Amino acid sequence: MLPTKAVIPVAGLGTRFLPATKVIPKEMLTVVDRPTIQYIVEEVVASGIKEVVLVTASGKSVIEDHFDYSFELETFLAQKGKMDLLNEVRHISRLIEVVSVRQKEPLGLGHAVNVTRQVIGDQPFVVCLGDDLVESEQPCVYQMLRVFEKYQESVVAVQEVPEEDVNRYGIAEGQEVEPSVFQVDRIVEKPQPGETSSRLAVIGRYVLRPEIFDCLDRTLPGIGGEIQLTDALDTLRKERKLYACKFQGNRFDAGDKLGYLQATVHLAMDHPDLGPAFKRYIKEIAEKL
Ligand code: G1P
Repeated sequence: MLPTKAVIPVAGLGTRFLPATKVIPKEMLTVVDRPTIQYIVEEVVASGIKEVVLVTASGKSVIEDHFDYSFELETFLAQKGKMDLLNEVRHISRLIEVVSVRQKEPLGLGHAVNVTRQVIGDQPFVVCLGDDLVESEQPCVYQMLRVFEKYQESVVAVQEVPEEDVNRYGIAEGQEVEPSVFQVDRIVEKPQPGETSSRLAVIGRYVLRPEIFDCLDRTLPGIGGEIQLTDALDTLRKERKLYACKFQGNRFDAGDKLGYLQATVHLAMDHPDLGPAFKRYIKEIAEKL
């Protein structure tokens, strides 16, 4: 059975991006021509997911509005005959079913995932973190689902990071069982220098078996005093198996100011309408540097 639901935690305060995120949720910051959350939703839709479960907090309802039908706007665009814009707006509300669950306290990513238990039920599901944008030929989640389909066990997406960045991520250790697929024999959240020799960093994409919920129930607060999904995954890999998929593609940390600028430049260069003119502009300014 393949997952049909994707959990996207959006309850965070976006403190890395203040002051922009004082009022606007970080998930609604625009990269080129759409909010970052729309890239994530488009990725899961393109991977075959049928329903998105947002884990929200107060001040985040604008995200739900973005994926909702906007009667006023659609009527206005239809009356003005602006059909291209109308189709663009309709496309968003027709993308996918969206349900929301509240995370009432900011107790960490593991806690955010655990509050979706009733909505997910006893089936595998996907988790996508909104800060991580992946530009790839085949969607990152699609690549992971192929690994899940083969092994029927939970899968995390990984990429190699420089040694000095290892303490910023969940790090997976394991053996490569086929090209780009590792069986994980330890996973540790934000390890201290010397604590691991692996440089396989988990980026924000997970395909999880429902047994993760029982593991989360047993997970005590870890790094930062938060309930870490990584710690629950380390329990899961002891009781079942866990795989890591080194995906093909470029990942951007859009929750970080520099990563956001890099995502903007890359995605603008690849944009079907804006790309050619934007590339010319980039060349022009690069020559003056
Ligand atoms: C979270 C996860 C971490 C993962 C990272 C990817 O950390 O806890 O394991 O490597 O996302 O972006 P955060 O960035 O929320 O501190």
